[in-house]
This record gives sequence, structure tokens and C-alpha cells, in this order.
Amino acid sequence: MTDVGRHPKITLHTLSEVVEVKGYVGNFKVKVLKKARYVDEAQCTSCGECVKVCPVVRPDEFNLGLSSRKAIYSPFPQAVPAAYAININECLGHNPSVCSKCLDVCEKKCINFHMSDEEIVEEVGAIIVATGFTPYDPREMDEYGYTRFENVLTSLEFERLVNAGGPSKGELIRPTDLATPKSVGFIQCVGSRSAAKGGEYCSNTCCMNTIKSTLVIKEHYPDVEVKVFYIDIRAFGKGFEDLYKRSKRQGVKYIRGLPGSTEELADQSIRIAVEDTVSGKVEFHDLEMLVLAIGSQPNKSNRKIQEMLGLQLTPDGFFLEAHPKLQPVDAATRGVFYAGCAEGPKDIKECVTQASAASGRAIRLMHKGEIITEPITSVVIAEKCKVCGICADVCPYNAIKVDKQKKTPAVVNSAACAGCGTCAAECPFDAISMNHFTDTQILNQVNAMLDTRPDSKILVFACNWCSYAGADYAGVSRLQYPPNVRIIRTMCSGRVDEDFIWEGFEKGAPVILVSGCHFGDCHYIDANHWTEKRVLKVKEKMEKLGIRSERLQLKWISAAEGIIFAKFMKKMEALRQTVSHKEIAETIAILKNSRKKKAS
Ligand code: FES
Repeated sequence: MTDVGRHPKITLHTLSEVVEVKGYVGNFKVKVLKKARYVDEAQCTSCGECVKVCPVVRPDEFNLGLSSRKAIYSPFPQAVPAAYAININECLGHNPSVCSKCLDVCEKKCINFHMSDEEIVEEVGAIIVATGFTPYDPREMDEYGYTRFENVLTSLEFERLVNAGGPSKGELIRPTDLATPKSVGFIQCVGSRSAAKGGEYCSNTCCMNTIKSTLVIKEHYPDVEVKVFYIDIRAFGKGFEDLYKRSKRQGVKYIRGLPGSTEELADQSIRIAVEDTVSGKVEFHDLEMLVLAIGSQPNKSNRKIQEMLGLQLTPDGFFLEAHPKLQPVDAATRGVFYAGCAEGPKDIKECVTQASAASGRAIRLMHKGEIITEPITSVVIAEKCKVCGICADVCPYNAIKVDKQKKTPAVVNSAACAGCGTCAAECPFDAISMNHFTDTQILNQVNAMLDTRPDSKILVFACNWCSYAGADYAGVSRLQYPPNVRIIRTMCSGRVDEDFIWEGFEKGAPVILVSGCHFGDCHYIDANHWTEKRVLKVKEKMEKLGIRSERLQLKWISAAEGIIFAKFMKKMEALRQTVSHKEIAETIAILKNSRKKKAS
């Protein structure tokens, strides 16, 4: 951090918040709200005289409330810049009759109560999102007694307690009597791997953190009895299994089973009841201190950042990468990258690896001074554009500008366009075309697939990233599904134009399926929401025309759901068999008639 603070080419904004991001790859404008520090950071030498006289005492956030700080303080010992800051909401004020003690003792005269927040605009070419995580709050798991018993701590509180720079200077003491506990228990997976409380995912770091903590205890206090209650121990990294074995060799007891209840005893120890799932017996353990290995949750600001930058979140609330294997640090929005726990829970080594990868990707993008855009982008056909603005409204990347006042045709910024094709599908005047996925190309595919025996075919539109990959997965897994399925690939289900569906039915398709990624997984932010709206609209129109709307299906299938793809194709085949030749012929006649009416 000190190196970052000193680097001539890095501008570090501390006490700051990003409030707005505009622009696109290579041309981002980031508005930053820099909060007032009330201390001149260039002058402050962190002598600490102000802290000594400040009368306001508050819990120290860095030590998770296990120690206190003043209203003028340094957030933690190695903070950069090495200057104090005043929490103005806690400060008694600079009115001499109220306080102003810090002002009086500061020899350098670096305290300035007239400072105010300022807005700064930075122009950058790439953005790395490294928003970290929020520790799980165990208060909702009342069975572990975190809110009721003082000697129940979280793993983070324990971490501060045994840290040499922590509130007890590294001494292991229990909060109630400040004595070294004779026994310490750890409960794993608190807020992880649970559908009811916390997240359903594994938080990745808790097992190894607990193993490390048991070794710290055994190293300094070999006589302390240590017990770990777990579902299973995930020691999967390099050297991790060795650490786990070392911990066991040092006498740490690992008990497979999570406690069901806790109670406090007269000496403020904690009694826990647990079923040991190895022996199948219910056991009671009395522990002088209990540590809850809390999980990692997405940062609370993720939703705001997602909206600001046009990113995607997983259902768990972490950021979604453009591709889990091929672009693990890239966002779907070009020029944006992820590092650390913003993308999912991970340990320090993985965070450092990912940060190096993200900065490498950003440098690679920037050093050329220009970018090569993907060829799959939208193109406006100026003479057809009626300046309605629908394309700009549906674009998930704000890549289309429409000037309704000047009445000039829409303009697509191809650097910002990601190529989902939603604009082309939604334009009522066919005034937008998608390079490589033009209307003509897709309609020709529809016609080719339904050229012979259309009544025997199942027409499927599948998005490239999820459902097409799901079909592929079904194929490589050798899953059986009807051989009469005909798949047309589009980059996103958002590209499936209403006209493609009508064309399919008019050419004699008995059933049509539109499929794409699950909500939250669409690789073009939320383009599949438009797919759903469009399909529902077409279904309504079908009913009005007297066509059975059941013949058009919408299904979200992920890349990993090969089995679901195969099963759904069997359902589609069963549905196809309910469509008679007469019904198909009637549909064709209805659609031809309606087309004639429109033309006249
Ligand atoms: Fe699959 Fe959008 S990319 S639905």
C-alpha cells in the first residue's frame, strides 16, 4: 500500500466514493466524491498529540469494537496516507467553548475544520472492480449465541485478538475475565453452504483460516484444548493438506457435525450439543471460548456498482465474469475487469493472482492506444431510422445515442456495443442490423431448416453462451434427445426477432423454442428480460389470431444443464406430436392472410 501511495503514476483517492461512471472502453469518465479529512494530509506527521487530547471515545472499527479510538484517528496502523482523519459526525466541533483541543495542540497547524467534500472527475481507459466482500453477520444464527454470550466471537474478531497489533497485543484472552481460555471451539460454515441463512456457496477460506488459527493457538498455548466442528474440511490448495495434518498432529480434535444448540454455564463457558456424524452419538462439549468461522458475502455496494458500470451479478450477488474459463477476470462490459472477492470468495493468493491478471488485461488493452472491436456489432440503416429511440432504451450498454430534437438517425458506438442484438430485434422499422447475424442470414437458416418435412421438425433458437452450450454439453455427454431438433444459434436470446418466430410458423414449424441464459446469467447484462417480454407478446398475438400459444415455448437453460436440455427436447417432441397437419395448415393460412392485410 505504501508503494502504491508513493508511485508517481498512481493517484490514490482515500476517503472517497465513486458516484458516477460515464463513457466506454478507453474513454471512461469517473466522478469521485472525496470526503473531507479535516486534516491536511501533506502536513500531518501522525505525531498523535491530537489523539491524546480528543475527549470523544468510540469503538474501533478496525478491531471490530474490541478496542476504542478517538474522533480524530488513523483507521489502522499502516494506513496510507499516514495522516489522521476526523469523523466530523462524532467530533464535538471546533467552537473553542465546546472543544477544539486538537487544534490547540497541533504544532503543524494541519487541522482545518473548513475543509469540505469535493467532486473529482477522472478520465480513465479501463476500470478494475475490486470491491472485496462483507463478512457474514452471525446475529441471525441465534442457536450459536453470538448476541447472548460474550465468549462467542467471530473468526475475524479472533483474528484481531491474536494479532500482535490487536487490542490484546496478541494475547489470547477471553472477553469476560481476560484470562487465557483452557479450551477453544471453532464452528465451521457459519453463513456458508446453507440455503436458509447466509449463502449456499462455500466461502472458500474459512477451513484454512480455522486450521491456521488452531496452529497459532497450539504454537503459543500448547495446553489449550482445541476442537473444530465441521461438515467437511476443504484443504484443497498447495500445502493445505499438510497444514491440516499438522494441526491434527498437534492435538486439535476435529469433530464432524455442526452444533445444534449452545448454552452458557455459570462460569460463562459455553456448552454445545452436537451430533458427531462419524460415531452417530450426540455429545456435549464445554468450551471456554467459541469461535464462529463466518463466511464471505458480496459487498453491499455491488448492486450500485453493477448499475453504474452496466455489469452482471450472479444470483449470489458477486460479479459475473464474461467467461468462467476463457475470460475469468473480464466483465462483459469492455474495459472493465475484476479482482479479488468482488467476483467470488477467495483467499489472498488467489486475490493476488487475479489482481495481477486484471492489471495485465487492462495494460494489454491500454498500451496500444486503440482497440480492435469485435465484428459482431449493431449497425443503423440510416434511411430506415425513424428516430423513435427504442433501440437506445433497450441497449444494456448505453451504446446507442438518439438525438430526438435534431431528428438525426440513431448512432451506435461500436466500441461500447457488445453485440447482443436486442436493438435489432426490438426496432419496429428494421432499421438496425447485426453484423454476422443479420435478419436475412437468420431467416435463411429458418427457411433452410424447414425446407423439407417442416411438420417433423422442432425449431430451436439458442443463445451462444448458455443454451447452445447446454445443447453442446448434452451432445458430448451422449445424452439422447430427439434427432429432429434444429438449432439456430444467436449470440443472445435478445436477438430473436418476432419476425423469426412468425417466419418459422409460416413455413410450417409445428413448435418453436426460444432459449437462453437464466436471469442474472445473460452475458449481455439483462438482455434476456427483453426476450421474455417479446415472447410473451408473440404468445398473446398468437392467441388473438387463433393459434395455440403453447406451440411457442421459452426456456432458460445454462451451459451446465445438458440433462435439462435433453429432457426439454423430449417435452418439445411430445408437444410437436400434438400438432396436427390440419393445425399447421390453418396456421400458415392465418399468417399469410395477416401478412396480406398488413401489406395492403
Ligand atoms: Fe444467453 Fe443473453 S447471452 S440469453
